[in-house]
Parts: sequence; C-alpha cells; structure tokens
Amino acid sequence: MRKKVIFGNWKMNGTNAAVEEFLSVVDAQANNTEVVAGLGLPFTALSTGLKLSKNVKIAAQNVHFEKNGAFTGEISIEMLKELGVEFVIIGHSERREMFGETDNTVNLKAKAILAANMTPLVCCGETLETKEAGKTVSFVNNQIEKAYAGISKEDAIKTIIAYEPIWAIGTGKTATSQDAEVVCKAIRENLAKIYDQATADQISIQYGGSVKPDNIKELMSMPNIDGALVGGASLLSKDYLALVNYNK
Ligand code: PGA
Repeated sequence: MRKKVIFGNWKMNGTNAAVEEFLSVVDAQANNTEVVAGLGLPFTALSTGLKLSKNVKIAAQNVHFEKNGAFTGEISIEMLKELGVEFVIIGHSERREMFGETDNTVNLKAKAILAANMTPLVCCGETLETKEAGKTVSFVNNQIEKAYAGISKEDAIKTIIAYEPIWAIGTGKTATSQDAEVVCKAIRENLAKIYDQATADQISIQYGGSVKPDNIKELMSMPNIDGALVGGASLLSKDYLALVNYNK
C-alpha cells in the first residue's frame, strides 16, 4: 500500500520562534499512524523544526545539486544532511517561475538528493493558460519524464510527487477532486510507462493548491491522490492538525 503523505509548505514564513510555538502544539497530535505528516520550513528554521518534532517530518524547500563551491546563497545536500533533514521539496512552481528552476535542475536535484539517501518531493503542475489550452496532461507528463530522466526504478519508488496546478495555488481555487484525480491518474499511468506498473503503484502522489480542512477528505478519497502539499492552511495549527488527521 502506498503511503499517505500530507505536508505543509510554509514557504517564506516561519521564524524560529513561530516554528517553536507551532510544533509545541502540533507535533504530539500529528501522530496519525496512517499518514506521514510533514512540514517544509525555511532553511533558518530547519534545526528548530528537527529538534522539536517527533511525528512531523521536516522538509527543506530547496537545495543545490552541486556538492559545494562558488554558489553564493545556496545550500548543499551535505549541509541539510548534517542537520538531519530527510525530505526536500524541489521544483515548486514558485521556484520555477521566480527563481529560474527548470526541468533540468529539478532532475539534477532529484538525483543528488536520492544519492544522499534522502527523499525528493517533486512538484509539477500547469499554468491556467496550459489548462485552458487542454494541454495539462501532456505538460505534466513532460515535466515528470524530465524530472525522472536517468533515475532507476529502485530510486523512483523512494520519491514523492506533488501535482500542483499553478492556478490553484494560493488562489482559493481548488481543482475539483475529480479533475485532480484525472491528472494524478495520468501521472501514474505515465510512471507505469517510464518504469512499470508495480513501480508506479508504489509512488505517492500528492495534490496541492488551496487544500483546506473542508476539502481534504474528498481529495483523499480519490484512488490516485495519496496526500496533499498545503501552503496557506498549514500555517494555522488547528488547520494543520485537521489536515493530517483528516481520517480521524
Ligand atoms: P496553497 O499552496 O495551499 O496556499 O494553495 C500550496 C503550495 O504552494 O504548495
């Protein structure tokens, strides 16, 4: 059975004090045995997050693929590993649109993260324009093919995918659970083509984009949606707990 994986993504929010306050309330109750609960934090709050969490898995929101060197402002895998980080979000649309992330760098990052025995959480998703042109599935499939180029099936099963339509992020517009299911199913079919069905069946696929306590249950009831990546609603402890304990 695939793991259910519900992660918050705090983006550029969260001082150490805020993370401490949040986890002191949330961590003990994020103990759902059926869900891997996680939280993507800014680099500066990772240590605090790791220190204060037993149940909540702490993720970085980016990493550089090179081992070290002249890359001012970047953070390496070794640096994250030293802290004890196990999960790294890569290819988020905000990083693709604002910070020059490309399919190629997503691929390089995925490979480097896997080589360090860490878990990449690979984001994909289309713009409104692509959706309106009816090209969502081919666009997302292409992102996935490029992200997974050269990655073995043994490694692929260690990854998590987040399908996040850009038009649904932070807009309050959630894809209907049926629409999200159609794309997540297409992603799984594509993984079966790239690898094989058994491999595709083991990879957890999250939906992201305006997920909230009142729509999580329906999204999670879809056969190919195995979790969620949640921005805004993950900032409030009450909502975060309602999300990761959606089945209780
Ligand atoms: P949102 O963000 O839940 O605020 O729409 C989702 C994301 O960007 O991961």
